[in-house]
Amino acid sequence: MKAQIAFLPGDGVGPEVLAQARRVLETIGRMFNHTFDIVEGDIGGVAIDRYDSPLPKPTIELVQKSNAVLLGAVGDKKYDVLPAAKKPERGLLDLRTLLGNYANLRPVFVFDPLADSSTVRAEVVRGVDIMFVRELLGGIYFGTPRMREGNRAVDTEVYTVEEVRRVSRVAFELARTRRKHVTSVDKANVLETSILWRQTVAEVAKDYPDVTLANLYVDNCAMQLIIKPKQFDVVVTNNLFGDILSDEGGVLAGSLGMLPSASIGGPVGFYEPVHGSAPDIAGMGKANPIGAIGSVAMMLEHSFKLPELGSRVQRAISRAIDKGYRTADIFSPGQTLVSTTQMGDAICKLIESSDANYAT
Ligand code: IPM
Ligand code: MN
Repeated sequence: MKAQIAFLPGDGVGPEVLAQARRVLETIGRMFNHTFDIVEGDIGGVAIDRYDSPLPKPTIELVQKSNAVLLGAVGDKKYDVLPAAKKPERGLLDLRTLLGNYANLRPVFVFDPLADSSTVRAEVVRGVDIMFVRELLGGIYFGTPRMREGNRAVDTEVYTVEEVRRVSRVAFELARTRRKHVTSVDKANVLETSILWRQTVAEVAKDYPDVTLANLYVDNCAMQLIIKPKQFDVVVTNNLFGDILSDEGGVLAGSLGMLPSASIGGPVGFYEPVHGSAPDIAGMGKANPIGAIGSVAMMLEHSFKLPELGSRVQRAISRAIDKGYRTADIFSPGQTLVSTTQMGDAICKLIESSDANYAT
């Protein structure tokens, strides 16, 4: 196949992790005769510096004519002084809206050798395999009114039945391909939007009699994720709760640097590692590229309908971990400390080698 992919490296460690994601795509393309035409664009802080806008026009045009988009990260303290509407993060939020991907899939998978890397006990996290489905285009991130009036500020949480319905369907469909259990997370003991959320999810559940549904309040869910994370299969929740709980998921996986994500539902799939720009380690070769490379695996599966190649990348990641390669964030004594590029090397070699057929 032939596809154009927009690469938006952004800020901080974004360019470093995307450089490794690029090598992985090129390796797959070369091996399986796919033409992946990678075109770079600016977003976030680098775009503010160059175009005075976190999502400039050339980037908008680029993503609209691409088949998929991979983003690195956005944000830097340097832009803290700017109003919310001009911050690097605004570029990312506007891009999500532009592309119309309402379901953000954030898998949290604990690789067996990393069970000891979590601050949560190994026996609690070993075997965890959760798919967070975060609503991405609504809720308090986008609701109006939204304003600052001197000593008073307002944000608004808004959801419609249709917005909840469509993301719930994604969650139930995914559950069907997994362990057939959905946990919907809300705050229905307090919030109107959550009452609507819970009712709507229950309606959608009727179309999926083969999938079980549990409801949890978000405060309890935050606790259950640490106490008994193996109870979760698919977790569906709103934009804000999904943002918070997926970072907690990163703790289970050993590092936020491990987590990939895919945003689907619109015509152009959007992929990004869950970690942020990490300006404190930018340019030092310390960043973990696995979140970005895992996002490429998700792109192969969801945008290009090449699930077997997505699995091949996923298995190579798993094998690199098995072989003891560790970036600083997941390092423990006795393992091999590697740089961002060396981790990319290891994974590309494993994609190429028959080792990648090893099933884990
Ligand atoms: C994420 C990030 C973003 C979000 C920020 C950078 C706008 O934290 O993707 O989880 O809050 O969605
Ligand atoms: Mn976040």
